[in-house]
Amino acid sequence: MEQPPLLCRLFLFSTLVVLGCTSWIQFVASHQESGDWHCEADEESRVVAEFRPGLVTLDGHADDWENIDGFEFSLLPALDPDHDHEYKGGKMTLKALHDGKDVYFLLQVDGDYLYKKGNDKNCPSVALMFQVGESATYHNMGGCKQSPDACNNKTCRGYEVDIMHFSIGNAIPGRLYGGNPIDNRDGNGGDRFGHLVDLYAWNPHCQNLDGVSPTGNDTAAQNDWRGAWWHSSFATHSGYSDEDSPYSTNGQKGTFYFEFSRALRTMDRLQQDVQFTIGQTSKFSAAFWYPEDGNPWHGSGHYTISCDWVPLDVPPGLSAGVKVVSRSSWNAASGFAFLLSIVSFGVSIFVGYLVHKKNAISFQPIDL
Ligand SMILES: *[C@@H]1O[C@H](CO)[C@@H](O)[C@H](O)[C@H]1NC(C)=O
Ligand SMILES: *[C@@H]1O[C@H](CO)[C@@H](O)[C@H](O)[C@H]1NC(C)=O
Repeated sequence: MEQPPLLCRLFLFSTLVVLGCTSWIQFVASHQESGDWHCEADEESRVVAEFRPGLVTLDGHADDWENIDGFEFSLLPALDPDHDHEYKGGKMTLKALHDGKDVYFLLQVDGDYLYKKGNDKNCPSVALMFQVGESATYHNMGGCKQSPDACNNKTCRGYEVDIMHFSIGNAIPGRLYGGNPIDNRDGNGGDRFGHLVDLYAWNPHCQNLDGVSPTGNDTAAQNDWRGAWWHSSFATHSGYSDEDSPYSTNGQKGTFYFEFSRALRTMDRLQQDVQFTIGQTSKFSAAFWYPEDGNPWHGSGHYTISCDWVPLDVPPGLSAGVKVVSRSSWNAASGFAFLLSIVSFGVSIFVGYLVHKKNAISFQPIDL
């Protein structure tokens, strides 16, 4: 039997897409911390990394993200999430998407331009943190109770978190940093060029570059992250180089942009990378450091988007949505498609007949 005509197939496809979309939304209860630590996380907050292939370029520019929904968060001090001490510059807008292979993040924060070349702590900085081990808490970066000389992959098993930290003091805006052949040849999560590093931790005192550990280094590790940064006060969209530093005038009003990507899955064998699965939810957080009142920031002086993990959904693409549709509506739809295809088959025979007939009459051999 011949295929249903194109229009009919399009109609069928769009019907299924609409039906499929409605069944994607799923809710996951947020978990509570216990003990002295006081946290009232917004249980509604979550970030969705939609399936949108071929939309964004990893260059620090945000214009290609324009049609992607953003998720807005207040930035509260990580160690004391009190609204009175909120970051004064504004909120953080987070956007995420995936293309079936890589996941992309855009972090957007309003802030007066500040840059001091070669001095990370006098420049803004951002980090992402993900739960790896099932027991890993947001609070205390995994929350393993071991001291720095006792934490290792056995005593802290299950408390692993994965961290990406970008300090821009040596990173030229719009240029790509993170995983590079030189550091990856050494087999660790470092980035000697732009300090966009791939770390893991069991608690704040037990943090290491991927591949580096208290009980010995494993050179199978890699820096799996890539990223770039930008500020809205920059006048040029052509390439900057090192000599253009500080790229803009300090104190200019505007917005900082930090854009990152990573493969959904990595070759990590050490439980140091989060692994994303399409159709599943990961837990993460984002942090922001800003040199306030002219003072350099320090490691624990950062703001975060929540005092607990924020769910990150990685939903499937369209074709997987079609599969979710129930049997009965599939049967009704294919019955309709079959009917239409019979009608169109009949029409095509009739048209064929007309053409044939017309040809039979009008064909005139030319005599020379
Ligand atoms: C592991 O790597 C770190 C960082 O590269 C280095 O400082 C340390 O000496 C290495 N340890 C061993 C045992 O090789
Ligand atoms: C722990 O790390 C060491 C290297 O430091 C490695 O040899 C060992 O296989 C790791 N153990 C586990 C359970 O991952």
